[in-house]
Amino acid sequence: MTRHFAVVGSGSIGIGWAIVFARAGNTVKVYDLEQSRLDIFTQGVNERLQVLQEEGLLNEGADIVCSRISTSLDLAESLEGAEYIQECAPEQLEIKKALFATLEALASNSAIIASSSSALKISSFTSDLSTRTRCLVVHPGNPPYLLPVVEVVPASFTSGDTVARAQEILRELNMSPILVMREIEGFVFNRLQGAMLREAYALVEEGVVDPIDLDIVVTQGLGRRWSVVGPFGTSTLNVEGGITAHVARMGESYYRMGADRGQSERWSDELVEKIAASMEGLFLNDKWTENVNRRDRALMKLNRLITDNGELNFYQK
Ligand SMILES: NC(=O)c1ccc[n+]([C@@H]2O[C@H](COP(=O)([O-])OP(=O)(O)OC[C@H]3O[C@@H](n4cnc5c(N)ncnc54)[C@H](O)[C@@H]3O)[C@@H](O)[C@H]2O)c1
Repeated sequence: MTRHFAVVGSGSIGIGWAIVFARAGNTVKVYDLEQSRLDIFTQGVNERLQVLQEEGLLNEGADIVCSRISTSLDLAESLEGAEYIQECAPEQLEIKKALFATLEALASNSAIIASSSSALKISSFTSDLSTRTRCLVVHPGNPPYLLPVVEVVPASFTSGDTVARAQEILRELNMSPILVMREIEGFVFNRLQGAMLREAYALVEEGVVDPIDLDIVVTQGLGRRWSVVGPFGTSTLNVEGGITAHVARMGESYYRMGADRGQSERWSDELVEKIAASMEGLFLNDKWTENVNRRDRALMKLNRLITDNGELNFYQK
């Protein structure tokens, strides 16, 4: 099914979304304030599509995908017929507030109006609008055409229908939407990223590690494993007996590290049980060895890919 999308703001994330929409066979109209911005956009889209084609990541020619994307300096024209609008203007509350008020007047009656906001809540700039039930944050990783995960963050006033339609459309685009159930600054992606960044800065400031070596801990250790199993999956598979056994073994140590940084909450038994039950659905405890072997196989494939492609290693050691 071909849909028509609008992208408002043609910077780096506008480029990313336009590629995601068009790559899946849809038409896209992109708006920005100045022609010079749209010229940079067009060049950016062309260059990235070319590289995606070279890497074998397009099902059809880059020129065909590109032909589905057009630009305009007229916002009303850009929104015409769009059933899904992705706002990609700068991360400034006043800009988003003014822009969403304009979108309220110009968008079609049923259009979903999504913001790419990285941290600002949708309720902070749409709560007074009559279109607010159709507004939500749809936050991508950067670049969206390479990172499938996307955070869907409704406000309490966003309708269930809007959330369901947005998720359906995102799945059609081969994205992996995850639902953020409560509005919180930074959502999940940037909260996790922020937690790690805060610790990384502190470790460098305290003279514990050099910045490059810290990056290597992530790229050749944590991050490589996380591309196969996330932090909860890692804990489940690192200790036989799963999450509960992991917490019994490591919980006190993680508690002391947190207390060291002024975070002295303990993980309650109920919380640990809840997470363990979720993980049990994915990695059955009585198949622990099988699951560990499966993780290892996946890492072997990844390691082979990285060894075979020297360019994947930014950090020579
Ligand atoms: N860059 C990232 O890593 C990243 C990742 C995820 C989400 N985001 C979010 O996506 C949004 C866009 O970020 P970006 O990095 O593409 O910014 P950017 O600065 O690269 O691009 C913003 C574009 O918006 C245009 N613009 C300014 N005011 C406008 C208006 N009133 N109407 C329409 N267009 C307007 C600018 O001319 C510019 O082309 C932000 O909310 C940002 O937080 C960014």
